[in-house]
Amino acid sequence: MRFGLVGAVLAAVVAVAGTALAQGDVVAQRRGGLRQMGQHMEAIAAVVQSRGDQAQIATRVDQMTAFFQTLPNLVPAASLTPPLPQGTQEGQTRALAAIDANRAEFGNRAQAMLTQLAALKTAAQSGAVTPDMLRTTGGTCGACHQQFRAR
Ligand code: HEC
Repeated sequence: MRFGLVGAVLAAVVAVAGTALAQGDVVAQRRGGLRQMGQHMEAIAAVVQSRGDQAQIATRVDQMTAFFQTLPNLVPAASLTPPLPQGTQEGQTRALAAIDANRAEFGNRAQAMLTQLAALKTAAQSGAVTPDMLRTTGGTCGACHQQFRAR
């Protein structure tokens, strides 16, 4: 009987720890991917600014597209804030619970990103990416942040 109770408590603790670990994984994956998106945007801006070969932009845009296609799957309810602590330290997140309350709108924001990236790729293929296009792209990132990311 006592064994049974201890066993049950242990099982519960392990289950909770397992959940925390799984959410930590998805938060780390999401944040790591988004950090890379920032790096891609900086690298793309540098190419445009230095009038470099825009063919390399298309390759980066392909990688960005692949990530944003998965983003709606990287925001399970238990990985948002709350319940997770809000912040930029490890194990914290700035992804708002508003995402779970409004999945359709989050999906729209992700889709708008994909549409903008497709336009960017087409322009890159003919060397026609302008600083204005990059500003528009940045605005598409910002529109989602405004709504779904804590400051
Ligand atoms: C569909 C919504 C959405 C779009 C589009 C989006 N982001 Fe984000 N971004 C988020 C959310 C949500 C977070 C918070 C993630 C977290 O803290 O778990 C975030 C966080 C970030 C972070 C911080 C990552 C970290 O270190 O914690 C960077 C950098 C970032 N985004 C860059 C970008 C760039 C660049 C773009 C556009 C190319 C972009 N994002 C487009 C939703 C979006």
